[in-house]
Amino acid sequence: MILNDFIPQMEPWFGSEEKIAINEYMGEGGWLTEFQRTTEFENRIAEYTGAKHCIVVNNGTISLTLMAIAAGIKAGDEVIVPNYTMIATPNSVKIFGAVPVFVDVEPETLCMNLESAKNAITDKTKAILFVNANGRNPKAGMEQFVKLCNEKGLILLEDAAQSLGSFYPSGKHQGTIGLAGSLSFSAPKIISTGQGGAIITNDDDMAFKLKRLKDFGRSGGGNDVHDTIGYNFKFTEMQAVIGNEQMKKLPWRVDRKKEIYKLFKEKLRDVKQVSFFDQDLQCTTPWFIDVQVEDRENLQACLKECGVGTRIMYPPINKQVAYNTSGEFVVSNTVGDKGLWLPSAAQLTDEQIKYVCDKIKYFYS
Ligand SMILES: Cc1ncc(COP(=O)(O)O)c(C=O)c1O
Repeated sequence: MILNDFIPQMEPWFGSEEKIAINEYMGEGGWLTEFQRTTEFENRIAEYTGAKHCIVVNNGTISLTLMAIAAGIKAGDEVIVPNYTMIATPNSVKIFGAVPVFVDVEPETLCMNLESAKNAITDKTKAILFVNANGRNPKAGMEQFVKLCNEKGLILLEDAAQSLGSFYPSGKHQGTIGLAGSLSFSAPKIISTGQGGAIITNDDDMAFKLKRLKDFGRSGGGNDVHDTIGYNFKFTEMQAVIGNEQMKKLPWRVDRKKEIYKLFKEKLRDVKQVSFFDQDLQCTTPWFIDVQVEDRENLQACLKECGVGTRIMYPPINKQVAYNTSGEFVVSNTVGDKGLWLPSAAQLTDEQIKYVCDKIKYFYS
């Protein structure tokens, strides 16, 4: 059995539905650049997440950048970010001169640690950019982050790139509690348009600014009047055609991701060298199967020999050469040493999951 194809980054799973839809669209002689299919895709995401507005852009990094700019964050402002996340989170504000300030994460969820965030606030802090790690909710409660931001006059933004299908206990979709939230549709995400991102927000002014920012600063569609500086971060109809088909598959994938997580947890429950994070399946959808393991390197090698691909989780960002900053980050350091993504794609069969777990048990026996 070869499971290398089922390493976490193999999610998109385009099928005949996408092929038919693209063929139909190409037969219509449409616009190619964003138009009605894009609006349909935005409406689908807004409806699913319960957000008032959804603005799609060309990836989930630029969506973070535009969200931060539209929120009024400027060069020199400090933005608090978790030290465990994909590097796009800090890079998205670094690109225009804002300063990412790293704080450690909770051991149970890998979401930002509330106390560490409080301690990192200075006169220059403008915002908290919260990340729902693997769609998880912070143990401290998201309402505590809202309270902190309200008390300190900070903007709360959510990097919900890994969150489609994950909700807060209140029933609100992740990404909809702060001023705005950012989603990603890159290849490994629960739905994908190849590349793609979106900002969801309930704030009319944010939505207006974001639409302008992604379209050269145009004051309206189809004119060349520019009240402000803007850029070109527009979507394409072809991506939207695929996105609309992917959205139809989302409910099934959400269920399947939860089943896969349950199966892994159940089959590995007696393996003390493998530990899972707190995933509340009532509200949240595990995007990847992320675990901490003993003897990671040898386990990976053993699984590879058995045809099973795995991937090391994000290293602590402060230790990346790109940042190389000092600080005490016990939890993200431990993830850097022990964190491992197991095969996680929604199309994995129960037999394949059993096979992976048997090999893990064999390795530790
Ligand atoms: C937390 C987080 N933020 C941002 C991104 C960047 O998204 P994209 O690859 O669409 O630019 C990712 C991608 O994996 C992510 O996981």
